[in-house]
Amino acid sequence: MSVVLVAYLATLALHAAFVGYVVAGTAYVLVQAVRRADDPLAATVLSRLPFMLGCGITAGVAPLLFLQLLYQRRFYTANLLMGPRWILIVPALIVGFYGLYLAKHTARRRGLVLGAALLCFAFVAYAWSEQHALMQADGAWEAMYAAGQRVYVAAEIPLRFALFAGGMAALFAAIAAWSTPLRRRLAVIALAGRAVSVAAAVALGFAPAGSAFGLGAAVAVDVLGWLLVLRRPDDARGLWLATGGGVATLVAAVIVRELPRMALVEPEGPLSAGAGGAVVFVVAVAIGVAAVGWVIRTVRGAAPEEPA
Ligand code: HEM
Repeated sequence: MSVVLVAYLATLALHAAFVGYVVAGTAYVLVQAVRRADDPLAATVLSRLPFMLGCGITAGVAPLLFLQLLYQRRFYTANLLMGPRWILIVPALIVGFYGLYLAKHTARRRGLVLGAALLCFAFVAYAWSEQHALMQADGAWEAMYAAGQRVYVAAEIPLRFALFAGGMAALFAAIAAWSTPLRRRLAVIALAGRAVSVAAAVALGFAPAGSAFGLGAAVAVDVLGWLLVLRRPDDARGLWLATGGGVATLVAAVIVRELPRMALVEPEGPLSAGAGGAVVFVVAVAIGVAAVGWVIRTVRGAAPEEPA
């Protein structure tokens, strides 16, 4: 496995954790807003959503760069075929981002605003699945181009959407459960999410033979952890197991997701082969880490004191 492929998988997993929190978290707060429930968990989640979306988008940039290196010709062809339809994800993200800020700072029309934001995020998630499917469907490219078609339709796309939506619910639950006593409710959300994911994965044939066992084992640990949380929400062991199972499921799913496409990885081009740059890369990483450390220190120093 090349370094680029490993870096791609690792950063994609990080991206998935953040956007999972955002999409499922927005849905959770939306439901509570519509019910007009006075829910402390919804308040905590809402206060974190804009920050988590910022993290999710930023964490999407790294796999995007690696993806272009791995599947250059296919990635760009699919992008060009979808054209303006693809670029629509940018305004959708902007609307979603501002929707979250608006919902966080005013209760007026919160349900409407969150509903609109959720639609934007669902559109972006669907667009990524569409792009993922189209870049592998080279048999469809010519006809799509000739017809001037901008939308790629395939049965696998809604199934991928369902699979990832279920996974997002479980990821949200695993992250949110560490800052609330309302864990039983999150266990139900996680288990329902896993059920949807597993059904969609089976319908899709997501895990090729040989890899299904690893992914299945990780899901089993995750489900066991959540069942323990359901029984004893205050026992940290269940939560640790659910979180460990969740991380293992995420890593396994990201790898399994890539397997059918790996044969399509393009060989290094003559320009990049032996181009070097390792020293510049290490220096850039050091500067980046130092800058992030400085930002964290500055923000901590400026934070208002916690009330006694
Ligand atoms: C709320 C916003 C977003 C959501 C909900 C979202 C969701 C998703 C989903 C569901 C997938 C998996 C698609 C599939 O395998 O079928 C995905 C993949 C990906 N996303 Fe995001 N995403 C968001 C924003 C972004 C942004 C802003 C970037 C880049 C800056 C990004 C970069 C990526 C990359 C590189 C992949 C892998 C695509 C592939 O391997 O074919 N995402 N995203």
